[in-house]
Order: sequence, then structure tokens, then C-alpha cells
Amino acid sequence: MQMNRIVTPDFKDQEGTIEKSLRPRSFEEYIGQEKCVEQLKIFIEAANMRQEPLDHVLLYGPPGLGKTTLSHIIANEMGVSIKITSGPAIERPGDLAAILTNLKEKDILFIDEIHRLNRAVEEILYPAMEDYAIDIIVGKGPGARSVRLELPEFTLIGATTRAGSLSSPLRDRFGVLLKLELYNARSLEEILHRSSKILKVRIHQSAAEEIAMRSRGTPRIVNRILKRVRDYAQVYGEGEITLEAAKKALGMLEIDALGLDPVDRKLLGIIIENYGGGPVGLDALAASSGEERVTIEDVYEPYLLQIGFLNRTPRGRQVTPKGYAHLGKAYHGMNLFDELEE
Ligand code: ADE
Repeated sequence: MQMNRIVTPDFKDQEGTIEKSLRPRSFEEYIGQEKCVEQLKIFIEAANMRQEPLDHVLLYGPPGLGKTTLSHIIANEMGVSIKITSGPAIERPGDLAAILTNLKEKDILFIDEIHRLNRAVEEILYPAMEDYAIDIIVGKGPGARSVRLELPEFTLIGATTRAGSLSSPLRDRFGVLLKLELYNARSLEEILHRSSKILKVRIHQSAAEEIAMRSRGTPRIVNRILKRVRDYAQVYGEGEITLEAAKKALGMLEIDALGLDPVDRKLLGIIIENYGGGPVGLDALAASSGEERVTIEDVYEPYLLQIGFLNRTPRGRQVTPKGYAHLGKAYHGMNLFDELEE
């Protein structure tokens, strides 16, 4: 069940229109990811000067950090159209051929979850990316022949939460590889102030700091929490987002002081209670928690690793002393001892 969860693996926004209006539309409005933005600005300007399409771009990193948003901005800054699709949505080579042949010169094709493309579809992409052409088979049996179709010169932007799952022939065909990082608290506060302005709600600096601290480094979560806190402040307060309203709303959402939600706490709790703190393999953890393996890996783990509550060892996941302390559990150092005995 994914009801009402603040942390979701969902690609699509559940509140489409509002979410869209909060999205920055240009680099000027975009906050954070400075290294990626700096590079992209240069590559876009150079491509524009040469009147060429931008080289293919791979954006990777945890969900909710703005891969789709950045792609829209790239299209805006290049002054071209963007077509959006996703790996699992392209089932057959013919589906991809139809998309590619409908692009215009310099258009952007955005493929989310590109690591989930099937093999046959992926093979169509190779010549498309490299030579702006696809080879299609016409006819059947002995009379079948391959026909080369020229494509417009386009830019592929691939997005993935797991660059490691991409086949190397596909990865090698991207000229620009950009890793999106979790946001720091200051950038998240800036996003909160910007979004509050758009939503026309006043937010106290202390409330912004509190929400930023509990948004696990993720703009999508910051904006979702902001909207829920705004609801709370509207019903129980004066409509302004004060520190008190923020704290109460976050409590109601069961998001703790460091941004962990009930699923994070459940995962840590299971490792401690059922596996002596770990190490435990992902499959075992998925089976005991009822969460999908990919969800644990892509959605929950990056933040737990980042705040030092979890370690990834060759034999599995291990809760750190910090993780024990956060859950108020006594740490006996057993797993460290286990490691030394190896
Ligand atoms: N809203 C969501 N992500 C954002 C970002 N990176 N900058 C500004 N506003 C945002």
C-alpha cells in the first residue's frame, strides 16, 4: 500500500497541476545541483552556437531530485520541444521507431527509467543515438530485408535511479553523464521559500528550516510536505506556516526529526530485531518487510546511507550505531565484532 506516503517511488506526480506549477522553468529559477547546471549551461550554449543538437545526456541519482524538471529546462533553454516517455512504456521496437520518426530536428526525447528498456528496444537506440538512423526489417521470411531510415538530429535524455543497471553499450553512447546529488538543507530552504511564494502562503524561517531538515534531501518531498503543512496551518492555525504548525503537521505525517517515515523505521527495526543489526541481504530484507527490493534500494536506502544509519557491506546491509541510537535501541557492537572475525 502506498497511500498517503510522503516518500514514494512514483515517477508521476499525484497532484499533477500544482506540482507542475512549482517546477522551475529556467536555469535562473532552478535551485541546487550547481555542478550539473554549470556543465549543462556550457554544453547548451556551445551546441546553440554551433546550431547543433545537444549531445545525449544521462541523468542519474535517487528519485525526486529533478531529473524530469532539468530535462524540461534543457528543452526550454535550447528552444526545442520535448517528448516524454519511459523505459517500461516502450514495449516493442516499433513503438520506439514511431516516437523517433516523429521527432523534429534538435528535439529532445526524454526516457525516464531508461534502465528498464528491453533488449530489443535498446538495440534500436544504438544506431539512433550514434548515426541518427534506424534499421527496420521489412517483410518476413527469406524475403525480409533491412531498410535504413534517417532520423532528425535529436537529443536523448535518459534518466535513471541506477546507472549501474544500464548496459555498457547504452551508457557509452551518452556524451554527458550527470549525477544528481541529494540537496543540502540550505537549498531545500530556498526551494521552500520559492514554492511558498507561488502557493501564496507565508512561511516562517524557523518552519522552513524544520521542513528542510526533515525532507531527506529531496525537492519533491519538500514540496509535498509544504502542501500538507499548508493544509494543516489553514485548518488549525491562521494560515501562516509557523514552526509550531510545521512540527505538528510533520508529527501527524509520522515524519520524524531527521525525515524518516514509518517505512524507514520499519526497515531499520527489522534489521536490528530479526537480523541482529545485519548484515542482511536485500532479498531477505524485502521478504521480511513486504517492501519491494527496488524500492528499498532506490527510495529508502540512499538517504539512510547518506545520514550514516546504514552501511552497505559485501554481505549485506548493516545498521550503524547511529541508526541504533536514533531508534533508541542499545547497540552491542555485535556486527562490528562479526566483521572482524571474518
Ligand atoms: N522545485 C522543485 N525542485 C526545484 C528546484 N531545484 N529549484 C527550484 N524549485 C524547485
